[in-house]
Amino acid sequence: MSHDLLKGKKGIIFGALNDKSIAWKVAEKAAEEGAEFTLSNAPAALRFGDTQKLAEKYKTIVIPADVTKLEDIEEVFTKTLEYFDGKIDFILHSIGMSPNVRKKRLYSDLDYNYFHQTLDISALSLHKILQTAFKMDAINEWGSVVALSYVAAQRTLYGYNDMADAKALLESIARSFGYIYGREKSVRVNTISQSPTMTTAGSGIKGFDSLMDFTERMSPLGNATAEECADYCITLFSDLTRKVTMQNLYHDGGFSSMGMSLRAMTQYDKSFNCD
Ligand SMILES: NC(=O)c1ccc[n+]([C@@H]2O[C@H](COP(=O)([O-])OP(=O)(O)OC[C@H]3O[C@@H](n4cnc5c(N)ncnc54)[C@H](O)[C@@H]3O)[C@@H](O)[C@H]2O)c1
Repeated sequence: MSHDLLKGKKGIIFGALNDKSIAWKVAEKAAEEGAEFTLSNAPAALRFGDTQKLAEKYKTIVIPADVTKLEDIEEVFTKTLEYFDGKIDFILHSIGMSPNVRKKRLYSDLDYNYFHQTLDISALSLHKILQTAFKMDAINEWGSVVALSYVAAQRTLYGYNDMADAKALLESIARSFGYIYGREKSVRVNTISQSPTMTTAGSGIKGFDSLMDFTERMSPLGNATAEECADYCITLFSDLTRKVTMQNLYHDGGFSSMGMSLRAMTQYDKSFNCD
């Protein structure tokens, strides 16, 4: 059911690869709530993913950008401002990739070139997007920027590898730039720390099925789905959250505040019953 929460608002959505992507769900909900947007993804992702199909559905444009390249990001903003003939109101940063995770390198045996790429793609890209938007004065007053994070930024979770460091940096950039963007332009910047979600990026993490089962059992409300994450993003793009900024907002069914749950303990106890 639509509430017209984003009626008249315009934005850029980075990172919709296929219909499992969190960004894909955000695009669907944003359209439902009355927003218009452009889409961006890496050139390689545009070849094997479905971003173009999403653009056709919502009659918008796709602007290719490898977010490690400043000139690509500048192109996204130039083309978006031209397309809308004016400024935008929201940006979704839904981008993450670790070559170390892909190549199954352990955290105690990282390849440092890969590590740089992880940080560049998954964290510095938020700074590059914010700095470009700021210099081009691309976002209207009371605009909103949301990036997606994960609790491994605060707590160690086996298998998350160098993405944990990238997420810690991402959250820090949201705070540091959030201060400047808030002070100078009344634009808010937040991260949403989402439950494990079965997407292309998510399923690349070691032991992901077990992790999802564990967090489901530990969270009083259960894991948050990609659709539910999209709902939360919409509230942050809307005018109902105008004074929320520089926050890392957990959207995880309560997982981040738990130590042990009945459902997790019941499962754990089963391992003692087989003696
Ligand atoms: N899936 C989860 O369990 C989970 C949990 C918490 C947070 N997140 C975060 O949510 C965000 C979206 O991930 P998702 O789970 O929807 O997976 P996804 O694979 O659908 O999305 C990741 C996107 O990043 C894009 N990308 C990778 N390298 C890029 C580059 N160089 N330039 C531009 N784009 C690039 C990919 O093309 C893809 O569209 C990521 O930041 C991820 O870390 C995911």
